[in-house]
Amino acid sequence: MHIVREVTDHLYWIGVNDHRLALFENIHPIPEGVSYNSYLLKGEKNVLFDTVDWEACRQMMENIEYVLDGEDLDYIVINHWEPDHAASLQVVLEAYPNAKIIGNQKGFQLAEQFGFKIDEDKKIVVNEGDVVEVGDHSLTFLFMPMVHWPEAMVTLDLTNGALFSADAFGSFKALDGKLFNDEVDYDREWIDENRRYLTNIVGKYGPHIRKILKKAAPLLDQIKFICPLHGLVWRSDFGYLLDKYEHWANYEPEQKGVVICYASMYGNTEQAAQALASKLCELGVENVEVFDVSNTHVSYLISEVFKNSHLVLASCTYNLGIFPVMKNFLEDMKALNVQNREVAVIENGSWAIRSGDLISEFLDDEMKQMTVLNDRITIASHLKEGQEEELDELAKTIKDSLRA
Ligand code: FEO
Repeated sequence: MHIVREVTDHLYWIGVNDHRLALFENIHPIPEGVSYNSYLLKGEKNVLFDTVDWEACRQMMENIEYVLDGEDLDYIVINHWEPDHAASLQVVLEAYPNAKIIGNQKGFQLAEQFGFKIDEDKKIVVNEGDVVEVGDHSLTFLFMPMVHWPEAMVTLDLTNGALFSADAFGSFKALDGKLFNDEVDYDREWIDENRRYLTNIVGKYGPHIRKILKKAAPLLDQIKFICPLHGLVWRSDFGYLLDKYEHWANYEPEQKGVVICYASMYGNTEQAAQALASKLCELGVENVEVFDVSNTHVSYLISEVFKNSHLVLASCTYNLGIFPVMKNFLEDMKALNVQNREVAVIENGSWAIRSGDLISEFLDDEMKQMTVLNDRITIASHLKEGQEEELDELAKTIKDSLRA
């Protein structure tokens, strides 16, 4: 049975929702699933835009067969050769051996590395800015290296205004029947999974995202639909989406807010984190969130850090170092280029308390533009009654800093 939705005249979403995969890229949990989006243009020439992950291949093939309704496939555009989008290409080629493949040189190199067998006479190698006529539609191409692989490109159908944006503007979360941004309450239901996808998958490449946003700006008035490889198709409110991308790509927080992340062995560091949260809220600070680093997947923490202006890191000392899950979080922030945040540190230890110094050193030496607030709290095993004043001071400092 086919599961197909029309994007606009002659253009169909023929992708697949996946609720079976537990970990995207075998690392990021996706409790709400993910969609692999593929699109099929049925015109004078029939054109497939990207394929889907291997495990979703059968559904996509049924969808293609339904839309083509006995016609042949003329072209396949591959914007991104990562296997969650290109893995099913070989099956498509076996079913439609006359199809020619449109891609760029780097993409075809990757195809070879992944073991695809593509005859030379089947390849149409495009350069940036080329215009390729496919029947009554004209396609042009913009390269966007490192968003999120070096070969990634976007294709703009100049005839109907559909931008096939590859991973750009993609999101975790299965579509489950919906297709367009205006069919959901995006701010309530989607933004968190969109941010978690973007910041964890492409967060490192903010400068590259900025470059593609700049490159695409002159084409904006020609774009009617943004068709990413995961998540919703956008047909309105481009300004909203672009604004979010500007923030993420520039490592600017979306809001003034405090993310308190604690790593606690026996609940004593956790107590300090909770006490601070309570004091911040009492002072009227909004957007306070508390996370246990030990049982929150780091992808959620990264997303929260991108969203908020302030961060509190509370960690016990372990083997004279930072508690390993907190160290891992720090390394992940560094790898994803997190920067430009205000940070407060709470340390704990029963002897040789080291975590505070080490966290501060990491923030100063390994990351960019991380401002460590002076009021560090040091706990010797358990927060003492007399330390309430210190917590009050820290809460006040954070509040003042939020106002700045
Ligand atoms: Fe969804 Fe970079 O692939």
